[in-house]
Amino acid sequence: MKTFECQVCGHLAFGEAPANCPICGAAREKYNEVKDAVKNPVDPANLTESENKHIPQVNISGSKVEVKVGGIPHPMLPEHHIMFIDYYVNGRGIKRSRLGPTQWQWQADTPLKAAAQATEELNLKPGDELKVLEYCNLHGRWVKTVKI
Ligand SMILES: [Fe+2]
Repeated sequence: MKTFECQVCGHLAFGEAPANCPICGAAREKYNEVKDAVKNPVDPANLTESENKHIPQVNISGSKVEVKVGGIPHPMLPEHHIMFIDYYVNGRGIKRSRLGPTQWQWQADTPLKAAAQATEELNLKPGDELKVLEYCNLHGRWVKTVKI
């Protein structure tokens, strides 16, 4: 599947670029195709320490979605932190939790949160596929997919 990155806010779109970025509103022309934008564990049954620090842990109760980045909590330091968590329902980006500054002007001055976690209210229905994507400034994007 092709992957496109919004050059304004770093949002990824899968399959095709949307008419407007669901996060920052930028037009389709602001999306560039990117390769290997999401990291995957080498052996999902035996995570390395680094993989375990980056793969989101997702807890859902009703409409409340709690995300913690890492089975081992990820650092939140100016030089090494989670920049944001993006949420996708059935492949479409719907929301972002901002956790810290990014290299994009659009979110460059986001205050650094104390912990690599977020809670959001999302409208989820049985059968939906929720994808939670986090972006570490040093180690890239990691995803957890959950079937509702
Ligand atoms: Fe990291």
